[in-house]
Amino acid sequence: MRIDVVTIFPAYLDALRLSLVGRAIESGVLALGVHDLRGWTTDRHHTVDDAPLGGGAGMVMRPDVWGRALEDVLALGIDHCVREGAGEGRTVLAIPTPSGVPLDQRRVEDLAAADHLVIACGRYEGIDARVAEHYAGRVEVLEYSIGDYVLNGGEAAALVLVEAVARLLPGVVGNPESLAEESHGAAGLLEYPVYTRPARWRGHDVPEVLLSGHHANIARWRRDRALERTARRRPDMVAALTADQLEPGDRGALARLGLAATPAGPRPLHVRPALSSDAAALAELAAETFPLACPPNMPAEDVAAFVAVNLSPERFREYLADDDRYLVLVAELGGILAGYTLAVLPRAADEPPHAPDVAAVVSARPVAELSKIYVRATAHGSGISQALMDATLAALSGRTVQGRPLAAVWLGTNARNRRARAFYARSGWEHAGSRRFTVGGRVEDDAVYVRPLVESGS
Ligand code: ADE
Repeated sequence: MRIDVVTIFPAYLDALRLSLVGRAIESGVLALGVHDLRGWTTDRHHTVDDAPLGGGAGMVMRPDVWGRALEDVLALGIDHCVREGAGEGRTVLAIPTPSGVPLDQRRVEDLAAADHLVIACGRYEGIDARVAEHYAGRVEVLEYSIGDYVLNGGEAAALVLVEAVARLLPGVVGNPESLAEESHGAAGLLEYPVYTRPARWRGHDVPEVLLSGHHANIARWRRDRALERTARRRPDMVAALTADQLEPGDRGALARLGLAATPAGPRPLHVRPALSSDAAALAELAAETFPLACPPNMPAEDVAAFVAVNLSPERFREYLADDDRYLVLVAELGGILAGYTLAVLPRAADEPPHAPDVAAVVSARPVAELSKIYVRATAHGSGISQALMDATLAALSGRTVQGRPLAAVWLGTNARNRRARAFYARSGWEHAGSRRFTVGGRVEDDAVYVRPLVESGS
């Protein structure tokens, strides 16, 4: 590739002779020319600017001087392409300006595929607009900006572009794998934080997982940190992630960031206590989701009978009116209820849980029951269950019964619901035995799980 920079401050570009770009030039991967625009002036004072037509502050760079310079410099590219056997080659005239399109990694990758890049550095108020207009008929013209701030001229932006392009040329970066993982790569995420020795520095320890030698855990940890960092620093990038850029293991990290991994990409998820005005929507959601947890051969009338008795709008109004006894949380996605939990607290601190297997295994009291945790089928796999579970356990950790903090929580799930059972096992619940559960006129086998609660603040 050949890059030519035209500027009134050629020395500004001396920095490009250093480091990786310098080596790329020495090795012949990159041919770099830096040219003084004043070499194409014709007057004694080497004038490159004039007052803006129409009035206004500052000075504008003259098109005639730029025109002469660009004719000569574009011709250097033709010679280069002929020598490289690149035919006519692809030439891009890049003009740094704060009013240009934002320069990002995609555009840099595109420019790195050109044969000849000419960077025309403006100063003052910029270059007469007819220069870009004129050359757009002959070569690709890109007016680009390196950020939403104003510099005194295009030289710093030219340095940025040359360095960003040069490191993508074959053989310039020693380990091309480092290109794949870095910020603004195909993953669409900012890079995770990095550490080196010593493992302890001024009282700060390197995260333990990085010393574990466990490659899968390290990869997961790095991905979680990348997701967190991107969500905090660049919410626009997280919102632009597509489903195929998300990995199944991303759901937990996204849920902790208040995001659901939907088929359209991550979307804000709001988990909050249910309000009495949610009763009707909750009943509708419950009627839709309860059958999903029932075995396929369960008669529909038994399911319907259960829903009519336990999950009607009236029942939800009762649950919501009695917040000493019930905790109801909802997960809202795009303003729609996507899931809910219903936990039941004991009336007395020493009341045993009404599943005998749980009572036998858990001696501490009081114990609450996580009676329902349901998510709409269309939102399964998005991490909403995890977000609801985390929020419910956090809320229960702060609750007391007759002044005593809740010690544990238990739940029952249909023994044949493998999806739910795998989820509970994965999220730290311990299988404690079974119980009988009546749905309509049918007695079903439930597997029961327990989890101790850590008191909040301890
Ligand atoms: N020239 C002056 N400011 C600039 C910016 N932000 N980007 C590119 N070129 C510039």
